[in-house]
Amino acid sequence: MDLEAFSSQLTALRDRALTALEDAVDPDALEEVASAYLGRKGELTALLSGIGALPAADRPRVGALANPIRQQLDAAVATRRERLNSIALEVRLAQERIDVTMPGRALTRGSLHPIPETYREIVRVLGRFGFVTFDSPEVETDELNFQLLNIPADHPARDLWDTIYVEPPASDAATATSLEAPTVEAPRWLLRTHTSPGQIRAMREMRPPIRLLTPGRCYRHEAVDASHGFEFFQVEGLMVDEGTTMAHLRGLLDEFAHALFGAERPTRFRPGYYPFTEPSVAFDIQCVVCDGSGCSACGRSGWMTILGAGMVHPVVMRNGGLDPERYQGFAFGMGIDRIAMLRHGIPDLRAFLADDLRFLERS
Ligand code: PHE
Repeated sequence: MDLEAFSSQLTALRDRALTALEDAVDPDALEEVASAYLGRKGELTALLSGIGALPAADRPRVGALANPIRQQLDAAVATRRERLNSIALEVRLAQERIDVTMPGRALTRGSLHPIPETYREIVRVLGRFGFVTFDSPEVETDELNFQLLNIPADHPARDLWDTIYVEPPASDAATATSLEAPTVEAPRWLLRTHTSPGQIRAMREMRPPIRLLTPGRCYRHEAVDASHGFEFFQVEGLMVDEGTTMAHLRGLLDEFAHALFGAERPTRFRPGYYPFTEPSVAFDIQCVVCDGSGCSACGRSGWMTILGAGMVHPVVMRNGGLDPERYQGFAFGMGIDRIAMLRHGIPDLRAFLADDLRFLERS
């Protein structure tokens, strides 16, 4: 091979290599092309190894021709490599791009059911007077629900408070030994008909002064309608101390009614009857719908009864282990459902237990 042929092969090789480099579309392809031409076993290397066949005088000239071409190709590889890397980066950036202006996923917030919400409000108001929550069980004994509250087995008041009787829990013997035996044959365990058994439990557990609120679910035999449930919520209030009078009860309930239904709302006591309080009262507020003029919500009377109350009966005081000569107390019981209905204008108490999200999400 003479110098001229060598030189033209070299140029041809260069042109092919340059085209191949331009055609390499990703870094892997590029490295393949680079080693096919410039690697240890590449074409350029192979061509240059033929240099030995040339006359000795021509060899330096071949070197002078080949070196710039190798440099040119090395530079072309480097340029192409850089270009492909920057394309790859651009592609990645485009793929990983985050649109920070995109609206986020909305978080749905829960809300309190109107019953606990109303109970919290009751605690907020009465808590300022020192009343604290005292829990009492829903499954109760006949003694605590009735007998110790001055309602013997044959008492007519039981007709108002019929309920569901249940099998005794396994721990019956353990929990009930401190209580008197039932006076007549009657199922001992029931679903409580009111929160008043909490009065006895509290008096037996703590010493006066006592100021507590017992909230929770109660059960009664009821024909269910918009204002009666067989399952409903009450909160019991109890205060026991030396020198407690009905005036304290009246003052407290006024504060309560004014906090929940407006400072100007008139209130009144009416005589009432409960076996476990003496005297007993019904506590009324002026109708929140008609403000006293008389409407269907208040049975045209202009008043709404929101709770029953009275002075703790001496028999109940004694059943709670306290001396009625020394201590006096008052108690009150109200339907949380009813208070919640009045506060929020809820027309039907069945909504509280129906689990309808449209209702629950509005509170
Ligand atoms: N326990 C009574 C009821 O369920 C309410 C009440 C409680 C009355 C405390 C007087 C005192 O109707």
